[in-house]
Amino acid sequence: MGKDVIIACDFSSAGECLDFLSEFTGRKPYVKIGMELFYSAGPDMVRKIKEKGHPIFLDLKLHDIPNTVMKAMRVLSNLDIDMCNLHAGGTKAMMEAALTGLTRADGSRPLLIAVTQLTSTDEARMRADLLIERPLAEVVQHYAVCAKEAGLDGVVCSPLEAEQVHHVCGNRFLTVTPGVRFPEGDKGDQARVTSPADAKKMGSDYIVVGRPITAAADPVAAYERCVADFVD
Ligand code: C5P
Repeated sequence: MGKDVIIACDFSSAGECLDFLSEFTGRKPYVKIGMELFYSAGPDMVRKIKEKGHPIFLDLKLHDIPNTVMKAMRVLSNLDIDMCNLHAGGTKAMMEAALTGLTRADGSRPLLIAVTQLTSTDEARMRADLLIERPLAEVVQHYAVCAKEAGLDGVVCSPLEAEQVHHVCGNRFLTVTPGVRFPEGDKGDQARVTSPADAKKMGSDYIVVGRPITAAADPVAAYERCVADFVD
């Protein structure tokens, strides 16, 4: 499976997103559609972007009882998306049910990736709010192993965790990593950031890049730079 750059299209309307993507006349980038865009523009937006030839990561982070997640995944599998995700915290039973729902009649399915602990959750909050006493790194690795045992394809994590995840789950288990910035770029609200070149060195399989591309003066050039540093 090849490495790729996924653009986080965090726009609040279909128009804004389609205007942005119309600038990409050559290579069609992998697009991440998150809750904001999906809840405002709906499944039609997914179909429109797919028709333009973009691979799609639908980032809706499902977390519910297994039966509900299975049925929701069945609906999503009809959208011809390439990747989607859920919370590993929903347990292996939920992840297995999700895989069942996601698998189409012909046996094909989108990649299914688990969120371990959100990067907004630090060790102190995990202890105080979730009553999880183990170190964060151990929790991330354990959730990754559970996702692998449930049959999932990989996890969302920081590039800084990619090596550890590959160590416990093998190199074919995918790491999809946000928190990427150019060395001279603005960090925004991301606390720990990694450059595309360093993410490549750390073994990330996909980098998710939002504002360094969407807010760039020349988004196509910023995207091509990510590809040159991470993929080529
Ligand atoms: O603009 P920026 O490059 O920070 O965008 C990163 C994208 O990755 C956003 O859509 C954000 O919601 C998502 N993400 C993240 N950290 C996680 C999971 C998802 O930044 N742990």
